Amino acid sequence: MNKWTLIILGLVFLSHVCAYKILVAFPYPGRSHSILGEGYVRHLLEAGHEVTYVTAHAYKKPHPNLRQVVVASVIDKFEFAQSLDFKKMLTKEADFKDMFAMYEIMAVIANRSLTHENVQKFLMDPNEKFDLVIAEWLYHHLYAGFAAIFNCPYIWSSSMEPHPVVLDLIDEVGNPAYFPDHMSPVSPPLTFTERVSELWYLIYLYRVLWFVRDMEEKAFRDSFGPAAAKRGITLPTLYDLKYNSSMMLANSHYSLGDPQRLPASYAAIGGYHIEDEIPPLPKDLQKIMDSATDGVILFSMGSMMRSETLPIEIQRELLDVFSKLKQTVIWKFDGSLENVPKNVHMVKWAPQPSILAHPNAKIFVTHGGLLSTTETIHYGVPIIGIPLFADQFLNVKRAIVKVLPWKYREKVKELSFIYHHRETKPGKTLVHWVEHVIETNGAPHLRSPALHVPVYQKLYLDLLALIVLGLLVVKRIFKRLFSSKNENKKKGEYKKNKKN
Ligand SMILES: *[C@@H]1O[C@H](CO)[C@@H](O)[C@H](O)[C@H]1NC(C)=O
Ligand SMILES: *[C@@H]1O[C@H](CO)[C@@H](O)[C@H](O)[C@H]1NC(C)=O
Repeated sequence: MNKWTLIILGLVFLSHVCAYKILVAFPYPGRSHSILGEGYVRHLLEAGHEVTYVTAHAYKKPHPNLRQVVVASVIDKFEFAQSLDFKKMLTKEADFKDMFAMYEIMAVIANRSLTHENVQKFLMDPNEKFDLVIAEWLYHHLYAGFAAIFNCPYIWSSSMEPHPVVLDLIDEVGNPAYFPDHMSPVSPPLTFTERVSELWYLIYLYRVLWFVRDMEEKAFRDSFGPAAAKRGITLPTLYDLKYNSSMMLANSHYSLGDPQRLPASYAAIGGYHIEDEIPPLPKDLQKIMDSATDGVILFSMGSMMRSETLPIEIQRELLDVFSKLKQTVIWKFDGSLENVPKNVHMVKWAPQPSILAHPNAKIFVTHGGLLSTTETIHYGVPIIGIPLFADQFLNVKRAIVKVLPWKYREKVKELSFIYHHRETKPGKTLVHWVEHVIETNGAPHLRSPALHVPVYQKLYLDLLALIVLGLLVVKRIFKRLFSSKNENKKKGEYKKNKKN
C-alpha cells in the first residue's frame, strides 16, 4: 500500500466513524416550523452527517447525504391554516387560548402526517436504522414514536422559549410564582392575582394534557403500531416514551425571553435557523431600500396569516396610516390593493432576513411570530408586535411614531449584543449536543433526577402527613394523660368548690 491509499483508507474510516445517521422529524405543515427543521438539516449536513428529513415542505437544496420523506399533501388538509383568518380572529371565532382545542388539533395534524403513505412506507422498511431522532414538540408528543421504532435515543426540539409543559418532559414544571406560561402576557415579579392565575393556568394545562392523553395514545398506536408489529417491537406507552428523551434543544435565548432556571439537558440554540450568509435582495427591493433615506418599515403578518382575509376597511386604514409616514413601507401582502400610496411597496414574498439586515431597515411591524422576533434581535431592528385584534390596528401608527426615536433602537441593539455574545454560535451548539448524545449512548448523565420524583415527594407531602399523624398521636397521648390526671384534679376541685 502506498501513502495515498493509506490516507484515503484513513479518510474513509474517519468518515464512517464520525458520520451519524440522524432522523429529523418536522412534518408539521406550517412553513415557519419547516424553517426550524431546515436549520437542523443544514447544520447536521455541514457537520458531515447523513440526514433523513421528514417534512411537509421539501428542502430545496439537494445534498448527497440528505434523504427526504415528504408529506406535502397534508398541507392541503391543513385546517389550522383555515382558522388563521383575520375575520375569524377579529370575531374571536378562532380562539387560540383554548388549549383543549389546540392540543387536540395538533395531535390530529401530526397523526395525519405520520399515517401518510410515505411515512408508513419508510417506517415499514426493516433496513432503516438511525443513531438519533430529533423530534419536534408542538403541543403533542407523537414524533417521539420514531425513536421507539428505530430503537435509538431522541432529542426534543422546542420552537419556543421554555414553558411548563416542555420543561416537564425533561425536568419539571417551573414554579408558577415566578415562571409564567408562554401564553401569559405577564413577566416576573408577579402580583398576587397574577401568581394565583398562573397557578390556576398550570392546573388547567394539566387538565388539558389529561383530556388528550387517550386520543394521543391512540394516534401513537395508529401511526407506529404497524411498523412496531413488523419489527417485532412492543411499543411503550407514549406517556413513558415522552419522558425518555435525552435532552431538549430549543429555539430560545436569554435575549429573547425571561431568564429561566434550566436543567442540564436543556440547550438554548435560539437563532440557529438564521444563515450566516444572507442571500442578496432582489434587484427591485435592493433599489427601494438603498434609496429610502428616511428608512424602511417592513410590515408582515407572517407566513401563516392569509392577507386576503384582512377586512377591506382595515386594509384601507393601514394604507392611510402608512401614507402619512415619511418612511418607505414594504408590505408583504398576497392580495392586490388599489390606490397604494407612493411610499408603500406591496410584495408577495419578503426575504425577511435580507431586508432586516439592510442598514436602512428601521422597524419591523409584525404579528410577532417566533421566527420574526428572533430575526429582529439578530439584526438589531426594533419590532412592533400587533396582536391580532381589531382595535389594535389603530394603535399601529402610535406605536410606529413611538418606536422611531433612538431609545428603542438602543434597547434592541443592547439585546442584539446579548444575543450575539455567546461562547459558540447556536448552530455549533446544536451539532455539539447532537453528537454528544449519540457518543454517550443517549446521555443518561444529563437526565434530571426530578423526572423520577413523584409530586408528593417533591412537595414533601409524605413528611407533612407524617408530622400531622405524629401530632395527632401526641395529642391523643396527652389527652389520655391529662384526662386521667384532670379527672382526679376535677374531682378534687369539685370537692373544693363544694366546700366554699
Ligand atoms: C390517525 O389517522 C388514521 C389514518 O388517517 C385514522 O384512521 C385514525 O383514526 C387517526 N387516529 C386518530 C386518533 O385520530
Ligand atoms: C428509554 O430509553 C432507553 C435508552 O435510550 C431505552 O433503553 C428504553 O427502552 C427507553 N424506554 C422507553 C419507555 O422508551
